[in-house]
Amino acid sequence: MGCPARKVTNGYSGSALMKDLDHALSLIEAVVGAVKVPVTLKTRLGWDDDLLNAPELARRAEAAGVAMITIHGRTRCQFYTGMADWAAIRAVKEAVTIPVIANGDITDAATAAEALRLSGADGVMVGRGVQGRPWLLAQIAAALYGTEEPVVPCGADLADLVIEHHTMMLEFYGVDLGLRTARKHLGWYLDAAAGDMALRHAILTSTAPREIHRLIRRALRETARVAA
Ligand SMILES: Cc1cc2nc3c(=O)[nH]c(=O)nc-3n(C[C@H](O)[C@H](O)[C@H](O)COP(=O)(O)O)c2cc1C
Repeated sequence: MGCPARKVTNGYSGSALMKDLDHALSLIEAVVGAVKVPVTLKTRLGWDDDLLNAPELARRAEAAGVAMITIHGRTRCQFYTGMADWAAIRAVKEAVTIPVIANGDITDAATAAEALRLSGADGVMVGRGVQGRPWLLAQIAAALYGTEEPVVPCGADLADLVIEHHTMMLEFYGVDLGLRTARKHLGWYLDAAAGDMALRHAILTSTAPREIHRLIRRALRETARVAA
């Protein structure tokens, strides 16, 4: 219930549900009643600054059986502008006893720690920050909770990881849909690869998996040389 996109909220979905909590609750109750797995809810602080009703939604969702709540610290009308307000998530944390997860603009261990401190939340969710660097979550966990520090791949190791990710996506979605779905991930991985726009363009437009993988190796090998 957090999506701010007009094509979603105009259809009375996503964060538009924050304008009608009775309707939101009827959907939550239907889901909780229909499945045997724990149901979690993700939403924003409210519709706009005049309707910051996430604490009320959270309280009612908990009573309806929701097991965990994630709050993106923006209102719907903020879309993605400004910075997420982690301190404002505290009102949700204080309204419920189920775990509350803070979300929005968390990009490293320092921002994760600050979001936890200001919100009092039980954990963090990272979205855009992890694009192209899936090891970030393990880095944050290592810094905050002392878990094992991940090895951050570079050069040929990074190429292996990217190619494995790409291959798995093609297997999962099938080649046609997989190629299109995987493209944005390749773009994010390549954002770290300084420079060669022609090579990047070739990778992102090719429809031949073996050719894509060959070019990924070249692009990321060159990155390692630039970084060295
Ligand atoms: C392109 C894009 C697609 C998203 N799709 C979803 C989605 O399907 N479901 C969802 O709960 N949140 C979705 N989000 C919102 C994110 O989960 C997250 O709440 C938001 O990006 C703020 O967190 P971040 O700053 O860590 O990215 C999406 C965000 C972006 C940028």
